[in-house]
Amino acid sequence: MRRRLPADVMDPFGRIVDYLRISITDRCNERCLYCMPEGYKGWESKPDHLSAEEIVRVVRVAAGLGFRKFRLTGGEPLVRRDVVDITRAMAAIPGVECIGLSTNGTRLGPLAAALHDAGLRTANVSLDALDPVIYRRVTGGDLAQVLAGIRSAVAAGFERVKLNCVLMRGVNESQLWPLAQFAAEHGLPLRLIELMPLTSTEVLTEQNFLSVADAMALLAQHDELIPQPDRRLGWGPAKYYQLRHTGGLVGFIGAMTTQHFCETCNKMRLTADGKIRPCLGDHGEFDLRETLRHAPTDAALREVLEAALLAKPKEHQFNGQYRPCRPMTAIGG
Ligand code: 5AD
Ligand code: SF4
Repeated sequence: MRRRLPADVMDPFGRIVDYLRISITDRCNERCLYCMPEGYKGWESKPDHLSAEEIVRVVRVAAGLGFRKFRLTGGEPLVRRDVVDITRAMAAIPGVECIGLSTNGTRLGPLAAALHDAGLRTANVSLDALDPVIYRRVTGGDLAQVLAGIRSAVAAGFERVKLNCVLMRGVNESQLWPLAQFAAEHGLPLRLIELMPLTSTEVLTEQNFLSVADAMALLAQHDELIPQPDRRLGWGPAKYYQLRHTGGLVGFIGAMTTQHFCETCNKMRLTADGKIRPCLGDHGEFDLRETLRHAPTDAALREVLEAALLAKPKEHQFNGQYRPCRPMTAIGG
């Protein structure tokens, strides 16, 4: 008999893990400093990527196990041509309560309405700067396209659109206050995220690290931050504050400096090449693609998901000697 946990999606540390982030491609049309090593060539070949059918099948099995929340990530998920079809098929699966998207926003303009129509409920858009020159320096991309994407997402009527900014000292700290003002003006929560060692680019140095405490102090020079301890927007680990005068909500994701950060972790990841990764900051992976292609019963797939859940580490290894062996773009944000 299959061993049943008290709740099928409870991990050994009593955390309910019911959120699966699915990288549908490792490709991206941008080159963010914090994500992809310069000149990155480690792309997986197309046949290594899970097909739309395989992804939807994993979602069905995960939903049967008790997963409720799903997010499409990448690379850049919107460079995959069947992203709308994948979304629609996922939304039809019983147990799938909510589907979100993490995107760089460059392709949201033409796709937002179709994604909304297919059942996508929320979108997190990366926005690391409001100055086009700094934006290009961080991402290699075109800010105007992203702003158009954000406008389309708002117009499409998603339940929530959030803005994500990765904190980098000497790169974008001048942008934090303009970003907070922009977010407040548009009624969108802004999340400031500590840089995690997920790639091997030059930006990953001690000097470039900007803690959420420092970011908070920086914003506090312009407006008062009122803690919102009970505020939860979606399923992420952000701690929210309201700007008293500006009115906006700013969430801080202190993945590196917050003690007990991992205690409320509720997620696992599926990489574009079909590996379940129980923790972003731990090398352990479970090969779901192998099972999908060679022993493809739902029971076998469920066993892999359960094994991954049982192996979920207590916390990430980022503060130890962690060295990324796959960049963020390969794992899925
Ligand atoms: N550190 C912190 N956040 C990162 N992201 C990507 N790479 C890193 C990193 N090294 C975040 C970006 C993007 C999301 C998918 O992941 O903010 O919005
Ligand atoms: Fe592309 Fe996102 Fe990585 Fe930037 S963070 S390079 S947009 S996958």
